[in-house]
Amino acid sequence: MLDWPGCRWQSGRMRSVSGPHLARLLGTWKAGADLTPAYARLAAAIRMLVLDGRLALATRLPGERELARALGVSRTTVTAAYDAMRADGYAASRQGSGTWTTLPDPPAQPTGPVPFAPAPETAGLIDLAHASPEAPATALREAYEWALAQLPRFVHGHGYSLFGIPELRAAIAARYTSRGLPTSPDEVLVTSGAQHAFSLAVSLFADPGDRVLVEHPTYPNALDAIRRAATRPVPVPLAPGGWDIDAVEAALRQTAPRLAYINPDFQNPTGLLASDAERAALGRAMSRSRTRTIVDETLVELALHDGAAPTPLAAFVRDELAITTGTASKTFWGGIRVGWLRADRTTVRHLAAVRATVDNSSALIEQLAVTYLLGRIEEVRAHRRSELTKRRDTLIAALRDRLPGWRVRVPDGGLVLWCDIGVPVSTPLAAAAERHGVRLAAGPRFGVDGAFERWLRLPYTLAPEVLVDATDRIAAAFHSVAGGSGEERSELIDTFA
Ligand SMILES: Cc1ncc(COP(=O)(O)O)c(C=O)c1O
Repeated sequence: MLDWPGCRWQSGRMRSVSGPHLARLLGTWKAGADLTPAYARLAAAIRMLVLDGRLALATRLPGERELARALGVSRTTVTAAYDAMRADGYAASRQGSGTWTTLPDPPAQPTGPVPFAPAPETAGLIDLAHASPEAPATALREAYEWALAQLPRFVHGHGYSLFGIPELRAAIAARYTSRGLPTSPDEVLVTSGAQHAFSLAVSLFADPGDRVLVEHPTYPNALDAIRRAATRPVPVPLAPGGWDIDAVEAALRQTAPRLAYINPDFQNPTGLLASDAERAALGRAMSRSRTRTIVDETLVELALHDGAAPTPLAAFVRDELAITTGTASKTFWGGIRVGWLRADRTTVRHLAAVRATVDNSSALIEQLAVTYLLGRIEEVRAHRRSELTKRRDTLIAALRDRLPGWRVRVPDGGLVLWCDIGVPVSTPLAAAAERHGVRLAAGPRFGVDGAFERWLRLPYTLAPEVLVDATDRIAAAFHSVAGGSGEERSELIDTFA
């Protein structure tokens, strides 16, 4: 049994990283002209991978000889690097168990979700913790007027629809079909949001103690749902520009997760869009290992680029293993509590039975409104695209001006920027920002075990002038906690605005 809390669950099944894989993750660790000894640079580079969540906690490091060979350095260098990491609290060893990654003060595991909702006394803050745009006002009003006009058709019945009303299931199925994933209405279950759909799938398919593979970083409420179900997240680091298929395959092999949770379309929080090649590789890995895969398409309709939309990930996964979740929350509005999932008919029936233990139906009027809005989806998407592009570019320009040391990838869609803030102060920054009138979600909210303290997620969902004001306030807060420094540059991101 291993001592460190993050290791406990993995006793007997610890993840490991091979020498060549670690060498690849380390990239250009040797570069630079300063006189820091090689062992110290190596230790710092591995420590950075741990802090950035690119090397999961409790991962067994390669043997010293193996890593020395992979890096082309002496074994003494690796031995000294591992010693330095142990001294700093970034590694632990035990005779016979090798050396594995740790953090100096492992954070207490949260006992429950930390809701983002502003407390009443903090109402009036600029809220950059949520990433949800306002409603398209005219289309929304027309949708509810239309829905109200349809009500007489329904009022003589009982009003429940456990699976969703037929016209909405048909509209959702048609949307999948038009995106290249042929779907019939009985492969759709209407829910009260994508998070509801995700929780249903976790409660049906995972038992307490089971593992759920997640991207790292990932959507915090999914992590909370995984922990609430007494299942355990297996974080798989994303590569700088996309999905690290080797790491996914290694995690599948080494931890045999019961479920995988993948967010391939403008991933929250990185904004990454999986290519068709990555989708094919992910689909192969999941199908081969028979891992049931929950594909979260919450942000799929929010493309801001001209390229063709990639094929839905579910098209690459064996049909009975794929559960795709979707929602009206981001495309249309978070105030409409309608989402859905797509799966094979048997899975849909089983999930509907689980749903009946929580609630019996989504609201009829909301379902009708979404049916109408799906009929106008191209118009709403075009409007979203032009507004969000302006806001994204405004926020990036303001950050460049006020916080030139931060690095930001320009996302091709979605709602957020994932910012490398240069120093590991995301949590104190979020606390200081509240005092400056801005609510933020700090980087570690998107990770497991305290990773991402050097990162911050910033939504570009508010009006441009509010984003500029918020950036001024965040810059003041940042200077108060970091003294304006930004020395620990990431080498992990390859393209920047
Ligand atoms: C990736 C992702 N999945 C799911 C959700 C939850 O969506 P819903 O409001 O439909 O429950 C969100 C909301 O922010 C999200 O960003």
